[in-house]
Amino acid sequence: MPSFRIAVLPGDGIGAEVTPEAMKALHAVGRGAGLTFEFEQALVGGAAIDATGDPLPPASLRLCQQAQAILFGAVGGPKWEDAPHEKRPERGLLALRKELDLFANLRPAKCFPMLVDASPLKRAVVEGTDLMVIRELTGGLYFGEPRGVERFADGGARAVNTMAYTTREIDRVARAAFEVARKRRRRLTSVDKVNVLVVSQLWREVVTQVAKEYPDVTLEHILVDNCAMALVQRPTQFDTLVTENTFGDILSDEAAILAGSMGMLPSASLGGRVGLYEPVHGTAPDIAGKGIANPIAALLSAAMLLRYSLDRPQDADRVDTAVLRVLEQGHRTADIRGEGEKVVGTREMGELIVGEINAQY
Ligand code: IPM
Ligand code: MG
Repeated sequence: MPSFRIAVLPGDGIGAEVTPEAMKALHAVGRGAGLTFEFEQALVGGAAIDATGDPLPPASLRLCQQAQAILFGAVGGPKWEDAPHEKRPERGLLALRKELDLFANLRPAKCFPMLVDASPLKRAVVEGTDLMVIRELTGGLYFGEPRGVERFADGGARAVNTMAYTTREIDRVARAAFEVARKRRRRLTSVDKVNVLVVSQLWREVVTQVAKEYPDVTLEHILVDNCAMALVQRPTQFDTLVTENTFGDILSDEAAILAGSMGMLPSASLGGRVGLYEPVHGTAPDIAGKGIANPIAALLSAAMLLRYSLDRPQDADRVDTAVLRVLEQGHRTADIRGEGEKVVGTREMGELIVGEINAQY
């Protein structure tokens, strides 16, 4: 019986509530497909700071390095907001991305037909939206040097972050994006700020160069401000987007609105030997601990784990189908409820989806 070692890092807030539901889904797949999942749990983020003082303890990193894939929840929260920069929960996630060389972050945003009315945008705008944001994840402003704060004697200060990219960093994420676009509708939009930033000039140059190796994919370039507008004006014009770290952070949150709710968006971070899978929604402190969070993003992230790290596309399809069926049956968590619809909690939603996974084996 094939066996897979999965590192599980639930983290903080609703991360700790939705991750167990994703594990249950993988267990169900295991039972159905004859696979064994060995889950090994580790601390990250605020939970790790409280226990060890370190947002990414060495033991957690080691576990991740030795696993075949990582199931990640979310990190952060008001409790740690005043901590110094290097001791914030978010550092744990950033260190993990960097240490594992997870440079390509895939964030699909799809508007499910039965959730069209869950989006605050008009039906005519969001209907049919199906896009994939590929965000560069280990470069740009998040990691560029120099960075820091200089304090002046007069009480003033100057703070610096640097947006820097090398040819190699752009080349590898561009290739990842073309490969993804090739399996989708063969249209790639590269997002930059070429009218202002030299970094964007290099970005455009390298992406255009890589495009020569992918003649079957149509490439277009768009400015990030224009892209932000087009995403809420005519999202169906897009298929695959590729962009640098900060632009991708912002645009992928915007794209979440197209899918009805942040609670629906999964992600995969790839590049190094081991992939990391996490819901895009974050810790949602306002609803944490109430058992009402939407576990679908975590479950869809588990499906991406099956697809990209374990090469089990059919099992991944089953998880995706189970989610679709449960939504078709009218079950909703609070974040995606329409008028007059009945609401289920995190666990109940998880159980319903597991039931629909079991039904397919
Ligand atoms: C995300 C999050 C993270 C980021 C935070 C938690 C560091 O917003 O994954 O989009 O900015 O990358
Ligand atoms: Mg973000």
